[in-house]
Amino acid sequence: MSTPAAGSSPVSGQRSRRFTSREGRELRREPLIAPEPELGLVALNGPGDPEPGLELADGRIVAIDGRAEDEWDVIDHFIARHGLDLDVAAEAAGIEDVELARRLVDVDVPREELVRLSRGLTPARLARVVGLLDPVELMFALKKLRARRRPANQAHVTNLKENPALLAADAAEAAARGFAELETTVGVSRYAPLNAMALLVGSQTGRSGVMTQCAIEERRSLALAIQGLTTYAETLSVYGTEPVFVDGDDTPWSKAFLASAYASRGVKVRFTSGGGSEALMGHAQGCSMLYLEARCLATIRAAGSQGVQNGSISCVALVLSLPGGTRAILAENVLAAWLDLEVASGNDAIASHSPTRRAAKLMGQFLPGTDFVTSGYSIMPREDNMFGGGNYDADDIDEWLTLQRDWGVDAGIEPLAEGEAVRVRERAARAIQAVFARFGFPPISDEEVEAATYGRDSSELPDRDRAADVTAADRVLAEEISGLDLARALDGSGFGDIAEAVLGIQRQRIAADYLQTSAVIDPDGAVESAVSDPNRYTGPGTGYRLEGERRARLEALPHVLRARDLVENGAAERPPVVVELGEALPGVAPDDVVIAVGPAFGTALHETIGGLSHRAVLEALLEGVRAGGAEPRLVRVRRVSDVAFVGHDGARISGSGVAVGLQSKGTALIHRADLQPLDNLELFGMAPLLTLDSYRAIGQNAAGYALGNRVGPVPTRLDNFARAKSIVRTTLLHARETEAIVRAAPPLELALAPLT
Ligand code: 5AD
Ligand code: CA
Repeated sequence: MSTPAAGSSPVSGQRSRRFTSREGRELRREPLIAPEPELGLVALNGPGDPEPGLELADGRIVAIDGRAEDEWDVIDHFIARHGLDLDVAAEAAGIEDVELARRLVDVDVPREELVRLSRGLTPARLARVVGLLDPVELMFALKKLRARRRPANQAHVTNLKENPALLAADAAEAAARGFAELETTVGVSRYAPLNAMALLVGSQTGRSGVMTQCAIEERRSLALAIQGLTTYAETLSVYGTEPVFVDGDDTPWSKAFLASAYASRGVKVRFTSGGGSEALMGHAQGCSMLYLEARCLATIRAAGSQGVQNGSISCVALVLSLPGGTRAILAENVLAAWLDLEVASGNDAIASHSPTRRAAKLMGQFLPGTDFVTSGYSIMPREDNMFGGGNYDADDIDEWLTLQRDWGVDAGIEPLAEGEAVRVRERAARAIQAVFARFGFPPISDEEVEAATYGRDSSELPDRDRAADVTAADRVLAEEISGLDLARALDGSGFGDIAEAVLGIQRQRIAADYLQTSAVIDPDGAVESAVSDPNRYTGPGTGYRLEGERRARLEALPHVLRARDLVENGAAERPPVVVELGEALPGVAPDDVVIAVGPAFGTALHETIGGLSHRAVLEALLEGVRAGGAEPRLVRVRRVSDVAFVGHDGARISGSGVAVGLQSKGTALIHRADLQPLDNLELFGMAPLLTLDSYRAIGQNAAGYALGNRVGPVPTRLDNFARAKSIVRTTLLHARETEAIVRAAPPLELALAPLT
């Protein structure tokens, strides 16, 4: 091609290396595109979106969002006949878009009132109103509209080898980390019954009451649920245009029927939708993603579902290629909550190559809290995620926990000590090993249990006989091995407590309290839902607040240290590095160079932040001053701890007028008496990077200044992360130095203590 590279100089064709280096960053591996509304590639407020409208005749809807009944597709029919409350519609017609938008963020308008009004709004109206909210308003609306009081989270549990011991171990860890729901899927569909079993056993080992599902083809999914091997389903996809439905061999009615089939058997069910799917499948009909998602959500509500998994889900990277993508995704979560649907709010598929962008996207759901902040947090490393990725995975757990701690929010994951993780993993792997033995399935070896307990991912597990495993999986279906059979097998193998928990889940299915909107099950069997524990947030001081025991728990990460362990203790037992000889008097010799140390140097503290011993640092400075041809003199400044004043006080009693100031943490400078205290000749602020050679060079330069030689500054290095690494220890060391201050005390003459 003869066209020059984008952005290259029109004259020379030369590229800016700033630009080329940015092109190498993670972000640039994914394309950003300008909107193409005809292809449905517009996130929200599309030019092709219909004008909102609702026309009634004889108490019947005859036109919806600009389309008359004879132009309706299946979705219009379904929504018009099942999804709108006509009394409310008449009332809502009198409220301006912006007034509705304001009510969404008005703490004095209760959630129930907003939910009631939503019943009268058409999809185009819903999309237009949330499209008026800015990102912070969307977050606030979501916080207010969430169905359940306390946020929770869902985990993905899969592995490339479909190894049952590893599935059980990961499920146990996820449950012990507080996930309320666990989802698995299969690479090979015949494995499903075994994966469902491993997930059930593992989950109940980690924490009783955790709900599980196996995402597979619906008929088999329903069969597994009826056998009591799973408790929920969420793969009932709906789409915002008719052709996509038809391509999927579905209609809103077939989906509604399927949902009832699950619910009638005591299985919790939510739908899946999310912006971008219609454009991806080539049938967006020129509409924006948010408008089409509003149609999906109206359909889901009309179908009577208690909830939805939305927020673009698998299409997230497509939505994020467009302007406003992140915002449109948050808007669709808000819409779902407004329609009184439980929301599992996405953040499952990889949104971006860029960790910055991933985290920024996440905050929309993480900060307000949703019913399930992710629709699937990969509890295992990404390589084992059979859902095709994992926006957040095993390697990100510490980051997630730290973000919760930073913001003081509960995003549904709890810290877990390594020992406890290992314990529940092992127990779950042992339990599924026993179950396999009981049913005469291909044995799970001790080696597999061990690797599932301690390994990082499935590459560390031995290969199993896959033909034998799928034969066993077929038996689960053919013999209708049930949750109850599983409980019996566990009980007969010495896992009575896990058996009890598996039985508890079967009881829950019969009681079916968890069919209420947004239900999760507590370890004691109590159901937390929009009915038993509704979100009644009405402003500061109300609703869910992270406090008390839960707050302490989410703050106490295993890698949190005690501050006092970060700096040396037991100074009193260590021999002092210097001895004090009495008040330091002004020097007179022109080659006198003072080395002035801080109040704690060599007594309350003995080493620098870089781990250099105070003795070695002093020796290096003394050596340097002498090598520079001057005479060093050791002095302690007691009245201040600030290195500028330590150095300046030293300079004022130095015969040459030059001094080195040195704090206990190692920060140093070269000062001269005639300078302002906060000025200096050279400052060495990067104490962690200073070596003994640096201190020698500092001494030598000080001598050079004292003798009036030409002096080039000591070369210094730069570590931009030094502060992030060291600021806590810097603070603690400086606190020690400051503690040792003796107010108004004159400086003391020092000598190196003799070596003992
Ligand atoms: N719209 C509808 N269904 C979706 N799924 C993922 N993303 C979307 C979306 N944006 C479905 C998949 C699969 C399950 C994981 O969720 O088709 O059934
Ligand atoms: Ca999910």
